[in-house]
Amino acid sequence: MRTKMVAGNWKMNKNLQEGIALAKELVEALKNQEPKCAVVIGTPFIHLASVSEVIKGSVIKLAAENCADKEKGAYTGEVSAEMVRSTGAEYCILGHSERRAYYHEDCDILREKVLLALKNDLKPIFCIGEVKEERESGKQNEVVKAQLEGSVFNLSAEDFGKITLAYEPVWAIGTGLTATPEQAQDMHAFIRSLIAEKYGKQVADDTTILYGGSCNAKNAAELFANPDVDGGLIGGASLKAPDFCAIIAAR
Ligand code: PGA
Repeated sequence: MRTKMVAGNWKMNKNLQEGIALAKELVEALKNQEPKCAVVIGTPFIHLASVSEVIKGSVIKLAAENCADKEKGAYTGEVSAEMVRSTGAEYCILGHSERRAYYHEDCDILREKVLLALKNDLKPIFCIGEVKEERESGKQNEVVKAQLEGSVFNLSAEDFGKITLAYEPVWAIGTGLTATPEQAQDMHAFIRSLIAEKYGKQVADDTTILYGGSCNAKNAAELFANPDVDGGLIGGASLKAPDFCAIIAAR
């Protein structure tokens, strides 16, 4: 059985003190909740080492929101996969549409990042998804297929098995527009069929595919009820402990 998961993506929110406070609040709240799914929080780089200490012994696992596409050396301002791993983080969000759009991360760069994450024992949470115009012209399947082929279908089956996918339609991120449960299920089933074609049914059945894009405490249960939607990657609603915990309870 594949892992069910709810993962938070704090993006560029919360200073260090606020981030530590939120992590402490989550640890306390989840102590009583006993989640039925894996719980991950993705924080800015500067929070990782401190939050890693806060969540020790709890159910919460830690993710970075990015890592460098180079191993080490003269790359001022970059943070390598090895550095991320040394904080205690176990996951790394890669390929988020904001990284693709604002920081020009293309399939080739992302392929390097995925390889470096895996090499350093970090599990990628790899994001894919179409923009509004692509959805409106019916191109969403071909876009998502190209994103997978460009950055993760080069992996061995063993390495691909370490990846969590997150389908995030760009038109739904931070917009309050959520994909309908049918749209999410259709795309997740399509993604699983592509994995089955490439790696076989067992690998496809074992791959965790999250939905992301304006997922919140109100709509989570309906989205998670779909057979191919294994959980969520949560932006805005992961910044308040009660909201995030309600989404975890819905999984
Ligand atoms: P959102 O963001 O939940 O705020 O729409 C999701 C994401 O970008 O991962």
